[in-house]
Amino acid sequence: MKLFIDTANIDEIKEAASWGILDGCTTNPSLIAREGRDFAAAVHEICEIVQGPVSAEVVAQDADGMLEEAALLRQIHPHVVIKLPMSHEGLKACRALSDEGTPVNMTLIFSVNQAVLAAKAGAAYVSPFIGRIDDTGQDGIAVLSDIIDVFNTYYFETEVLAASIRHTAHALDAARLGSHVSTMPFKVMKAMAYHPLTDKGNAAFLADWAKVPGDGLIPTVERFLATRQKESA
Ligand code: G3P
Repeated sequence: MKLFIDTANIDEIKEAASWGILDGCTTNPSLIAREGRDFAAAVHEICEIVQGPVSAEVVAQDADGMLEEAALLRQIHPHVVIKLPMSHEGLKACRALSDEGTPVNMTLIFSVNQAVLAAKAGAAYVSPFIGRIDDTGQDGIAVLSDIIDVFNTYYFETEVLAASIRHTAHALDAARLGSHVSTMPFKVMKAMAYHPLTDKGNAAFLADWAKVPGDGLIPTVERFLATRQKESA
């Protein structure tokens, strides 16, 4: 299972990368706009930090325009994956890019049928938007589950990338269902590490450690090692 961060914020990406768990990054025009900086420079900086695929989205709405933008985006950095909106033109561009070996993330997926078409067009990833499906009163996780089932039935090579993850329960469900990738905001990724019993347990361990005789872990262990070294010399 791969974990991607869904942001264009450099501090968040650096922090998540420092935990050693980051497999990739997804951006979109809204996330880029939120940072208020040059698009190409931002994508390049993200690619230098993230040692994996970084989705950068086209804004053209016709296949020729998408291909022209994709050719430029790919030159920014080898980590760039081309993000295309789901549409007939997007499918056309997806097929052309996939045929030349360029990885595509087909985005704005809200149904199994859309996901099937994207996979048939050779997309490397399809991105169902779980949270936005929930927003309509439908069940985003049920759609994700159906997409995974259909892809498994036909052994599609396209990876399912659970997107629009809003909270840790979405992240948990995506993991349970076997989503190949989950992309999530920094705050959700951060929250995945928390459990009240971990904090409580750690506090109890520290309180008990204070009762252990000696002047602290490092001096105690260093003294022990030095004594052993002397004895074996
Ligand atoms: O990866 C897609 C994501 O950025 C959309 O999330 O929360 O705007 O629906 P959201």
